Amino acid sequence: MTLLALLLAACDGEPPAQLRVAGGDPERGRAVAASHGCGACHVIPGVRGANSWAGPPLMEWARRGYLAGHLPNSPENLVAWLRDPQAIAPGSAMPNLGLTEKEARDAAAYLFTLGADQLPPVPAGLPLGPKEAGPREEPRIRPRA
Ligand code: HEC
Repeated sequence: MTLLALLLAACDGEPPAQLRVAGGDPERGRAVAASHGCGACHVIPGVRGANSWAGPPLMEWARRGYLAGHLPNSPENLVAWLRDPQAIAPGSAMPNLGLTEKEARDAAAYLFTLGADQLPPVPAGLPLGPKEAGPREEPRIRPRA
């Protein structure tokens, strides 16, 4: 029974703490994405009709390192992007869709569930911990001479 509960928990795409959006509700966010036409430009798994490649596909969003090509992909940066893309990337083809703060938080929370079950144990860009590199001495891969 406990094992079943663990397996189910592992499948629901709950993001790790650093990718959780304060005040965001993923299920509402899925509805926000559907009702605000995000699918007219993006592929978004789980959102009906969101299958356009006009903009970048948003599948496995939790695994992305950068947002709009230069901002670290953090919850707060994503919320800011969704509220006003033009403020971050003037001239971007992504329009300001007039999301409220709450709608942006919900949508961001939904996006961070995508691919959350496939995250490596250490966030991208951070060095491995002392016990995480396996049994061999580091560096494990030396550059060729
Ligand atoms: C008219 C087309 C259009 C619509 C509608 C649209 N987007 Fe975008 N979106 C884009 C484009 C184009 C980009 C790439 C912009 C850039 O990097 O400057 C983008 C970028 C993004 C990014 C960052 C992607 C990346 O790889 O950095 C996210 C996240 C995003 N959009 C989410 C949404 C959400 C959520 C909605 C609905 C609320 C939405 N978009 C609606 C066109 C659109």
